Amino acid sequence: MQAHAYHSGMASPHTTVAALLVQARARIDPIDAEWLLLHVLGKPRSWLFAHADDALTDTQAARFDALLVRREAGEPVAYITGSRGFWTLELAVSPATLIPRPETELLVEQALERLPAGRALRIADLGTGSGAIALALAKERPQAQVVATDASPEALAIAQHNALHNHIGNVEFHLGSWLQALPGDAFDLITSNPPYIADGDPHLDQGDLRFEPAMALSCGPDGLNAIRTIVRDAPAHLRPGGWLLLEHGLDQGGAVRALLESAAYVDIATVQDLEQRDRVTLGRIPQGGSCPPSLRSHAPAAIAPSAG
Ligand SMILES: C[S@@+](CC[C@H](N)C(=O)[O-])C[C@H]1O[C@@H](n2cnc3c(N)ncnc32)[C@H](O)[C@@H]1O
Repeated sequence: MQAHAYHSGMASPHTTVAALLVQARARIDPIDAEWLLLHVLGKPRSWLFAHADDALTDTQAARFDALLVRREAGEPVAYITGSRGFWTLELAVSPATLIPRPETELLVEQALERLPAGRALRIADLGTGSGAIALALAKERPQAQVVATDASPEALAIAQHNALHNHIGNVEFHLGSWLQALPGDAFDLITSNPPYIADGDPHLDQGDLRFEPAMALSCGPDGLNAIRTIVRDAPAHLRPGGWLLLEHGLDQGGAVRALLESAAYVDIATVQDLEQRDRVTLGRIPQGGSCPPSLRSHAPAAIAPSAG
């Protein structure tokens, strides 16, 4: 039988896209394998469907294998590729930033419901990380001015890069701890997805969390230290009728509502995700009189009323 000779530039049946994906899918999650291969090739996902028989060069195949080894060791795909999609944005991420989660888009949706378009509103996003929430709101409300803060200079640098890369100009960035980064400033709406996992929680030793910055994840024995600080300090930075929206753990809705109630917020509610799990709790500062229609609460379908 005649042996096949493969010359430089020819497709070896072992290095076609299809063959490499079969091998990779036996090593890591199939979707992760596709993302890593597309990253090596610099191609969009749609490219895969028509190119199963294309060959990779030896260099590309070796690079792909190196990425598979990193993923096998547990490193998150987003840190390997250096980016993650959020809302309508492609965001750079690094081990200095949390990897933005799709669940956080619920916080963005809830904020947008309370931010009438076309108004020069002021918005703050505390603990912005990659800038996910701040940049999504700034893009959707181009006439608003958004301020994004973080206590991590490395994270803030990534967020600034993401603003530039996504051509979003109505965001400014401040380094500092929660509202101390914004002295004397007042806002129509403040968002935060702060660290909310309890110190020592066993989940911190599992999955992607092992690779994410500790300061982005855990905060005190019950995970609520950051939320307590923000709930306490936000009223001095909210305009009358202004909203505070907080993402939190699935079992923290009641505790966060109680914190807002004890700090005299009104219109307090917890919003649930599609699986009816508590995700976001919000409240606002009283108007001290009439409430402009534009800032009235829109109660979504999946909303748990305040326990109080
Ligand atoms: C859960 S991550 C959220 C990141 C981003 N907002 C998101 O949703 O993807 C929490 C963020 O809070 C920041 N952070 C932690 N402690 C802080 C503090 N004292 N003041 C401001 N930001 C802080 C972390 O650096 C991290 O970026």
